[in-house]
Amino acid sequence: MNISGAARLAAVIGHPIKHSLSPRLHNYWLRQCGIDGAYIPLEIAPEHLEKTLRALPLMGFKGCNVTLPHKESLLSIVDEVLPVARKIGAINTVTVDNSGRLIGTNTDAYGFIENIRSLDPYFAFSHGPAVVLGAGGAARAVCAGLLDAGVPLVYLLNRTRDKADIIREHLGDKIQVESWENRNAVLAKAAILVNTTSLGMVGKDPLDIDLTLLPTDALVTDIVYNPLETPLLKQAKLRGNHIVDGLGMLIYQAILGFEAWFGTRPEVTPELRQFLLEIKK
Ligand code: ATR
Repeated sequence: MNISGAARLAAVIGHPIKHSLSPRLHNYWLRQCGIDGAYIPLEIAPEHLEKTLRALPLMGFKGCNVTLPHKESLLSIVDEVLPVARKIGAINTVTVDNSGRLIGTNTDAYGFIENIRSLDPYFAFSHGPAVVLGAGGAARAVCAGLLDAGVPLVYLLNRTRDKADIIREHLGDKIQVESWENRNAVLAKAAILVNTTSLGMVGKDPLDIDLTLLPTDALVTDIVYNPLETPLLKQAKLRGNHIVDGLGMLIYQAILGFEAWFGTRPEVTPELRQFLLEIKK
């Protein structure tokens, strides 16, 4: 890294933050684009979040990403919440405007949809229902993205049904909550299946699901990216379904923040994916 006194600055704020791939990703793009700038990790405890956010404009930062556990609490800290973040109920990207105000947005829905579009340009979201497993923060962004992209109906299933009901209350009637026990049967209606649970991640149990009824032309995607090919994706690939892994969502959600802070739209390349994967070995 070779930065001058005039470098543009951005950060990622989380607690913990040491496993975040975002610094590696943004600093790769800064190097590729030849931009005088830096993107740094800040481990900030919840009780210090507001003070830290308020200090960013004073220190000349252009903005930041925020990750667990701060995504929801930021809604009441920033000066303006853009509609997409309000809809998702969480902020993952903050920009500092010319008057030093903090503007909060959410790029996770964009990242999820753009990743699928980049890997499967012929996939028509309007052609059929989606089945979404899980009802955490990621599920809310995925559901909002799918509805915006034109999916006619989302079947939402979560072990704790109440959490799925809350998403339905928030996003409306195109979300239909089904019981977790019904997950194998509901697949018969799916044009796209999305796992947003943590199941299948390194160190966790695999997702317990039988894909027999899933149409073979349905797209299967997992937001877990460690491992890149989760047991769910392996199983789907074996029976001929097109699969989309979760690494791209992380990359694509980062594009909008990078462009806002550093003024250039970065590229997603196979080399970048490889560079991010090297750290997991
Ligand atoms: P995030 O907000 O980042 O998405 P989270 O709130 O931990 O993360 O959500 C993880 C998701 O994985 C939840 O939908 C969770 O289901 P519950 O709401 O019932 O906890 C789901 N999940 C985790 N372990 C699971 C398991 N063993 N079986 C089924 N679902 C599981």
